[in-house]
Order: sequence, then structure tokens, then C-alpha cells
Amino acid sequence: MTTHASGDLGIHAAGLTKSYGDLRVLDGIDLAVPRGSVLALLGPNGAGKTTTVRILATLTAADSGTARVAGLDTVTERSRVRRLIALTGQFAAVDELRTGTETLHMMGRLAGLSPRAARARADELLARFGLTEAAGRTAKTYSGGMRRRLDLAASLVSRPEVLFLDEPTTGLDPRSRQDLWELVRELRTDGTTVLLTTQYLEEADRLADRVAVLADGRIAAEGTPAELKSRVAGHRLDLTLTTGAAYEALAPRAVHLAPDELTLGLPTDGTAAHVRALLDELDPDRTDIERFTLRSATLDDVFLALTGADR
Ligand SMILES: Nc1ncnc2c1ncn2[C@@H]1O[C@H](COP(=O)(O)OP(=O)(O)OP(=O)(O)O)[C@@H](O)[C@H]1O
Ligand SMILES: [Mg+2]
Repeated sequence: MTTHASGDLGIHAAGLTKSYGDLRVLDGIDLAVPRGSVLALLGPNGAGKTTTVRILATLTAADSGTARVAGLDTVTERSRVRRLIALTGQFAAVDELRTGTETLHMMGRLAGLSPRAARARADELLARFGLTEAAGRTAKTYSGGMRRRLDLAASLVSRPEVLFLDEPTTGLDPRSRQDLWELVRELRTDGTTVLLTTQYLEEADRLADRVAVLADGRIAAEGTPAELKSRVAGHRLDLTLTTGAAYEALAPRAVHLAPDELTLGLPTDGTAAHVRALLDELDPDRTDIERFTLRSATLDDVFLALTGADR
């Protein structure tokens, strides 16, 4: 029943801008997501991830720029776009007074399935999301994670061509998170285009064909997970120096600076060999470095490295 529109981009946005009053949230966003692929949109709180998703899902209008989703214009062909997409929001939106079965059955009927097909689809999705046992209870009695899973299941009833998942795994336990990742992979195999937002680098790494990093209203970096990771070190060696002079001497090489503590961070792969070599190279006389700490690169480090905001 799915009709695939022509063109090989599931999502194509050009020059999207959006302001709320004086606040410029999006300052010219371009995105090109091939059909049947997964794009992870990464960004810190308030970066504009949800705003971007809402524009692409036709819930908000951009101030300027254009977006095509499933080959259709999100403004002039809005109602057709809506029939081909599904959106799971950042905050689970389920009807508390309906049971899991009722919710999915209703969604199936709204999507045009026969009563029998709607029930079969509901049962299939309930099983897939581990909700079979809870299917007959009202969502009011569900835990946060169960609500999220029901919300996700509801968005999949109609087998969308383009699926938007806004922080889909926030609040899920590790097992449910794995299940969701598996599901997204299956959807991609079936040809669904997926745009998901996430705060978790690991999630982007495991799931996404490409990653776009949103910062200061723009796409600060875009590429495969491997490409982006190669631009930031996996670990950071934080050195606390004994003197201001030693600090100043090393500062140009640092990716992280905390002058008040005479501490700065340098990229490293985290191996003992590299850390030892770095320490020897930076402080051959063993007088300048007081302490060191090895830490994994955090999402912050990645953002900072990619946007250069830390230098
Ligand atoms: N309806 C609105 N009215 C005014 N400001 C808004 C509105 N919606 C979003 N904003 C502002 O736009 C900015 C981007 O918000 P958005 O929700 O898109 O960020 P986000 O990247 O999804 O963040 P988070 O990681 O916290 O979900 C924020 O500063 C937010 O306060
Ligand atoms: Mg958001």
C-alpha cells in the first residue's frame, strides 16, 4: 500500500531557518537523507533538534527554506506528507485511559486497516515491544519506559515511509534500548528512512548511517560515525601543571583548558603506550606535571572539538 515517491532522498531540507522572537534557533539547516537510511541528529539541549523534527514533520513552519519529505513539499503538500510519515515525540504521548491493545487498534483503524488487520498489527507490535502481558491494562498503570514503548509502537502501526524519532531511547532501560535499535535496523532494511535525535554518541554510532551535529543553529559537522569520530580523540589526558609557565607552554596543544586549576586536556587514544609517551614528551624532566587524569571523550568533548568552541 506504500507508494514510494520518486527521488532518492527521504528527507531533503535546504536553508531552514526558525526564530522564536529574538531567539534564532535554526540559522540555515541543510539535510539530505537517502531513502532507507538512518540519520542521527545530535546536539546539546536547546540546539534545535526538536524544532528541526517538528518542521520536517509539518508540525511547525520554518521562517524560510524548504523541506521535502518522502519526495513531497512539507508546506504545499502537507497533508500528503502527513500520510507517509510518523513521529514519536520526545515526551511519550499516550492516552492514559486506553489499554495498549485499544491504543494500537485505534491507530490501525485510523490508518485505514480493517478491524481484523488492525488487531493483528496491534498484537504483532505489542509482542515486539514486550507489552503483550500489559496489553489489557490501561496505560495509566504503565511505567515510563512502557509508555515510551507503546508510543513508539503507535507510530509504527501505519508502516511509515519516513519515521521521526525524537530522543526515542531516553528513559528506556538497556534491554529496551537494544530492542529499539534492532527495530530501527529492521525498518531501515525494509526501506524506511529514519531521522532520530539523540544525546547519546553511542546510539548514533550503532544506528546511524550518517550523523549531523547541530550547534549554534547550524549543522556544525556531518558524516559517517567513523568520519566524525576520527575528528575527535577517543580519550582525553587531563594534566594539572605545577606552574603557570608550564601551563602556557602546553596550552596551544590542548583541546580543553581550565586555567584556574592549571589543568589542560590533550587528545589521546587512551592506550598506556600513548599516555606514557605523551607524559615523557611533554615533561622530560618530570617537573611540570603534578597529576594526570585519563577520561573518555564525552559528548561535550565531541561537540566542542567539532565546533571549535573550546579553543
Ligand atoms: N514554541 C517555542 N517558543 C519559544 N521558544 C521555543 C519554542 N520551541 C523551542 N523554543 C526554543 O528553541 C530552542 C531550541 O529548542 P528545541 O526544543 O528545538 O531544542 P532541542 O535540541 O530539542 O533540545 P533538547 O535536547 O532539550 O530536547 C530552545 O532555546 C527553546 O527554548
Ligand atoms: Mg528536543
